[in-house]
Amino acid sequence: MKQHNIQFWLNGEKVSLQVEPSDVLLDVLRGKLGIKSPKAGCDRGDCGTCTVLMNGKTIRSCLALAVEADGAEIVTLEGANSRKWTQRLQKTFHEKNAFQCGFCAPGVILSATELLENNSRPTTHDIKEAIAGNLCRCTGYEPIVEAIEETVKGK
Ligand code: FES
Ligand code: FES
Repeated sequence: MKQHNIQFWLNGEKVSLQVEPSDVLLDVLRGKLGIKSPKAGCDRGDCGTCTVLMNGKTIRSCLALAVEADGAEIVTLEGANSRKWTQRLQKTFHEKNAFQCGFCAPGVILSATELLENNSRPTTHDIKEAIAGNLCRCTGYEPIVEAIEETVKGK
């Protein structure tokens, strides 16, 4: 199959690589670029563990083709230092022990980043809605919601 040259910004750095038209973004991030925070949970768009930011919006990288990233800005948890809210969320979640196994953590933090970048005074309902697509098997969500609320208060 004919390979495509793509270029995009990944956590602030420009990357260029060749991909197959059918290559999935999640596989390229993990397999070719060494980015391990987005994970394959369900591989069909249901769980949110593969969440990344593309041009400031969360996407399911298991459902995106790598060629769709051409020219885009992609942010993963490895690039937390480049986003004010991502950095603050990560710190609060750590301080509050908001996660247990942590498998859902990168996706939850990036969904919360998207929320706070667009609404720095979210209600509890806004927070729950923002993370509704990120499944967590361990916490019952309460500590996650509280940690996001704490992050907002500490701004
Ligand atoms: S692995 Fe992408 S949504 Fe579950
Ligand atoms: S902390 Fe285990 S899945 Fe969320």
